[in-house]
Amino acid sequence: MQTLRDLPSLRSAIAALRHDGKPVALVPTMGALHDGHMALVEEAKRHAGHVVASIFVNPKQFGPNEDLDLYPRREASDSRMLADAGVAILWAPTVDVMYPAGFATNVSVSGVSDGLDGAARPGHFDGVATVVSKLFNQVRPDIAVFGEKDYQQLAVIRRMAADLDMDIAIVGLPTQRAEDGLALSSRNAYLTPQERKDALALPRALGEAARQLHKGVAVGEALEAASAMILAHGFSSVDYVRLCDAGTLAEMATLDRPARLLAAARIGTTRLIDNIAVQPK
Ligand code: PAF
Repeated sequence: MQTLRDLPSLRSAIAALRHDGKPVALVPTMGALHDGHMALVEEAKRHAGHVVASIFVNPKQFGPNEDLDLYPRREASDSRMLADAGVAILWAPTVDVMYPAGFATNVSVSGVSDGLDGAARPGHFDGVATVVSKLFNQVRPDIAVFGEKDYQQLAVIRRMAADLDMDIAIVGLPTQRAEDGLALSSRNAYLTPQERKDALALPRALGEAARQLHKGVAVGEALEAASAMILAHGFSSVDYVRLCDAGTLAEMATLDRPARLLAAARIGTTRLIDNIAVQPK
């Protein structure tokens, strides 16, 4: 695996990869890799002959009071995991390469970015859309793979790729979970042992809300019960629990089409998100 940090080297390495005509897949990450990321790499291998992974902790998607400085950085072990998995190129640009002096462009996807995490973390999805469009232009992959764990991010990227005629197939991979059901996330590393146990309330509350909705319980009532269940199990606050259209993420008051239940809540110093699919009867 080649680890590259400047654009000319990346461009020539990608050109060399493309000599055999096989598709190239990109797996964008911020590092601190876990089994969820490695599942994205395996999915990329199913779709393409060559896999490029990127590691870049993107300052533009962190708010002023968020965990940019504390975000786990483990490039040496990440790099070993990616090489063992058969990744051809690790693209690991510095902040100066990604955002050189004078950088002034912002990619903003309205609508799908506005609610949920977009409301709780102003500017976050502009930062994501800006860096992902740069990664797409740098690597020029045929396919890019993202996890459904960040469901709103996936929806924003799908919208952006369609709106900007990016000729890249966006593949979403179902959330990878620990055996007990907690969604895998780099931020789980911040949890104390007790918080790790309590954190299970998040997927359990979503599962229970989905069961209630299927039984015909009103949306508002099911969401309120989910929120109360999360708060009763060690979380200090709930940013949102919402039922949204699975494609547009518009809020839904009745379960009358394919939907997604999404939640974000804080436990100790950590903010966790999760989501599950809910189908109408
Ligand atoms: O999901 C992530 O790790 C990041 O948001 C991404 C897509 C790599 C953009 O920085």
